[in-house]
Amino acid sequence: MSKIEINNVFKIFGPKPSSVLQMVKDGSSKEEILEKTGHTVGLDNVTLKINEGETFVCMGLSGSGKSTLIRHLNRLIDPTDGEILIEGTNVMSLKKEELIDFRRHKMSMVFQRFGLFPHKTVLQNVGYGLEMQGVELEKRNNVSMEKIESVGLTGFENQFPNQLSGGMQQRVGLARALATDTDIMLMDEAFSALDPLIRSDMQKQLLALQSELKKTIVFITHDLDESLKLGDHIGILNAGKLVQVGTPVDIIMNPADDYVEAFVKDVNRAKVIKAKIIMKSINETTNEEKNNLIKIHEDQFIEEFLPQVVCNNANCEVVDKQGNVKGYITNKELQHSLSKS
Ligand SMILES: Nc1ncnc2c1ncn2[C@@H]1O[C@H](COP(=O)(O)OP(=O)(O)O)[C@@H](O)[C@H]1O
Ligand SMILES: [Mg+2]
Repeated sequence: MSKIEINNVFKIFGPKPSSVLQMVKDGSSKEEILEKTGHTVGLDNVTLKINEGETFVCMGLSGSGKSTLIRHLNRLIDPTDGEILIEGTNVMSLKKEELIDFRRHKMSMVFQRFGLFPHKTVLQNVGYGLEMQGVELEKRNNVSMEKIESVGLTGFENQFPNQLSGGMQQRVGLARALATDTDIMLMDEAFSALDPLIRSDMQKQLLALQSELKKTIVFITHDLDESLKLGDHIGILNAGKLVQVGTPVDIIMNPADDYVEAFVKDVNRAKVIKAKIIMKSINETTNEEKNNLIKIHEDQFIEEFLPQVVCNNANCEVVDKQGNVKGYITNKELQHSLSKS
């Protein structure tokens, strides 16, 4: 069972969404629908599975439906058609009380504009979700202090949000989401308002936290680099349609259409592709190709070993941490993988 499953979800905004649904199902485009009916297509037949413990990045241009998609997961938005299953439970079947409980215990959300309470201290902000869960003060403060430490804000717990920089405020937002210990975390453009250096810092921090916590994270961004860094899988939205889902390497190596191609065309593949992705198995490799070998580690990025390979006109022997041979990359195929378009 997938942690999150989205099946044929349509979302149409406007006064009479259901009257327009069939037109969308019959293939009318977002522009046509808007022109003919005044309704806006938010999502158009989105089907998607998200695994437990992965970071799923949803990417697309502004207006492509990213926020609409993520808001379906905690039912801030109801679909016009289709179903959303969280751990097998259809969110539309939840009664009011169950929904409140589900939002408090199942999912936390980190917003682009931080969403902090200005009159609460850092400690109180971080503890807010726990307060909503009914956790008593002492326990709340203990857990909050622990999360404040995990995002590197120890010493700031009694400050107010406006005394902190944007990056620090977003750390508070992150600590608050972590404090409730929900196993799903929704992050809508959470780092988009931050300066580049601070943003990259936050990305590293999230990766470090995630490698321990293994939460199911749905992360929204319009930034390709951010998607490639954070995503185990990436889903790309265009005008409400999910046009491609894949690993970062799938997306880079085989963009599904011109829209995805436009995102990835300037990517430096050598920076994002690891040896193990392009190596071929020992059996597939001829003896001739096992000549003039340079040993590289399976998790090395191409850019780290490319110069050495090119200068020596060598082939690569790919090994794991223990030094076992996992596969080979020939000189020719290495260069080919970089030029492929
Ligand atoms: N509440 C709403 N009412 C009407 N149209 C909306 C509403 N929310 C979003 N939309 C429209 O749905 C589309 C997707 O919006 P959104 O999900 O916010 O995109 P993104 O987050 O990718 O920028 C856009 O065309 C937007 O104008
Ligand atoms: Mg948005």
